[in-house]
Amino acid sequence: MKNILVTGGAGFIGSHTCVELLNDGYSVIVLDNLCNSKEGAIERIKTITGKELKFYKADLLDMKATEKVFAENEIDAVIHFAGLKAVGESVEKPLEYYENNIGGTFNLIKAMKKYNVKKIVFSSSATVYGVNNQVPYTEDMPTSATNPYGYTKVMIEQILHDMTVSDPQWSVVALRYFNPIGAHESGLIGENPNGIPNNLVPYIAQVALGKLAALRVFGDDYDTPDGTGVRDYIHVTDLAKGHLAALGYSEKNTGFQPINLGTGKGSSVLEVLHAYEKACGKTLPYNITPRRAGDIASSYAQTDLAKNLLNWEAKLDIEKMCQDSWNFTIKNPEGM
Ligand SMILES: NC(=O)c1ccc[n+]([C@@H]2O[C@H](COP(=O)([O-])OP(=O)(O)OC[C@H]3O[C@@H](n4cnc5c(N)ncnc54)[C@H](O)[C@@H]3O)[C@@H](O)[C@H]2O)c1
Repeated sequence: MKNILVTGGAGFIGSHTCVELLNDGYSVIVLDNLCNSKEGAIERIKTITGKELKFYKADLLDMKATEKVFAENEIDAVIHFAGLKAVGESVEKPLEYYENNIGGTFNLIKAMKKYNVKKIVFSSSATVYGVNNQVPYTEDMPTSATNPYGYTKVMIEQILHDMTVSDPQWSVVALRYFNPIGAHESGLIGENPNGIPNNLVPYIAQVALGKLAALRVFGDDYDTPDGTGVRDYIHVTDLAKGHLAALGYSEKNTGFQPINLGTGKGSSVLEVLHAYEKACGKTLPYNITPRRAGDIASSYAQTDLAKNLLNWEAKLDIEKMCQDSWNFTIKNPEGM
C-alpha cells in the first residue's frame, strides 16, 4: 500500500499525519478546500520532510472535483479528516454541519466505490461516547451525541459500518480521538484556530501571548481531584502515528473497527494550565466561571484495543505537549 489520499490534509491533525506518512515512505495526495486551513501548511509539510506531495484544492461536496482526484491517482487507501469540527457552531448551523460532514463523506464513499478503493481510516471522536457512559470509555459502549457535530460522527460511523456489511472487502477503521493538542516539534505546523479559540490549549496559548486576558475555567465543583474538568490530552504527533498503525491494520483486516486513540490518562484543566506555565515560564491568570452546559466531569480512554490491534500507544506526556504548543505559538504569533 503506497498512495494515500488524505482528505483535510492541510488541517491540524491532517498536516501532522502527512508528515508521518511521508517520513515513512508513503506517497501522499491531499484533498482540502482550505475552509479551515491555509495552503502554507502544505509547503511546511514539504519543508519538514524534504519530500513532495500532491495537493488538490477541492471540496468534497463537489463530486466532479472529488472524482478527478481518484481518476488522476492510483489510490490504495483514504484517511478521511475533512470536516467541520466546532461543537458550538454546529448547534448554531446544524444544516451546514450535516451537509458538509455527511454529504462530503457520501461523495467520498461514492468515488471510492467507483474507483474500487475499499480501505478508509476515519477521524471519529470520543464525543460519540455521549454523556451516559462511565470512564474509561471502551469501544463496545453504546454511542450517542448531544450536538449536531457529535451526531455527524455517530452517523458517519454507522454509514461506514453499513458499507462493510454490504461489501465484506471493505476495511474501515474509525479512530476515536480524545483531545489532540501540541504541535510538530519543528514549530512549523500546529493548531491554527480562527478567532477566539474554543479549545483549552489554544486558549491558554493566547493568554500566554498576552492576547487574551485570562483563562476561563468552566466549573471547579466537578467530582474530580481538583474540581475542574478532566480530559485525555494526546500529543498530535502520537495521534498522527496512530493513523499509520491503522493503515497497517486495514491492510490485513476487513470489516468495521472503532479504536480509541488516547493516552488513557486524564489531566484536569488546572494541571494543563500549570504544565503550560512551566513551558512558557510565566504565571498565567485564570478565573473560575460557572460550568458550561453539556460539559461532563471526566473523559478518558481505555487504550487496550489500540495496543492489541495496532501495536500503538501514546508516548509523549503533557509537559511535552505544552512545550511544543508554546514553541509553535511563539514562532507563529499571528498563526500560520
Ligand atoms: N481537533 C480535535 O480536537 C478533534 C477531536 C476529535 C475528532 N476530530 C476530527 O478530526 C478531523 C480533523 O480535525 P482537525 O482538528 O485537524 O480540524 P481542521 O479544521 O484543522 O482540519 C479539517 C480540514 O478539513 C478541511 N475541510 C473541511 N470540510 C471540507 C470539505 N467539504 N472538503 C474538503 N476539505 C474540507 C478543512 O479546510 C481543514 O483543513 C475532523 O474530522 C475532526 O472532526 C478532531
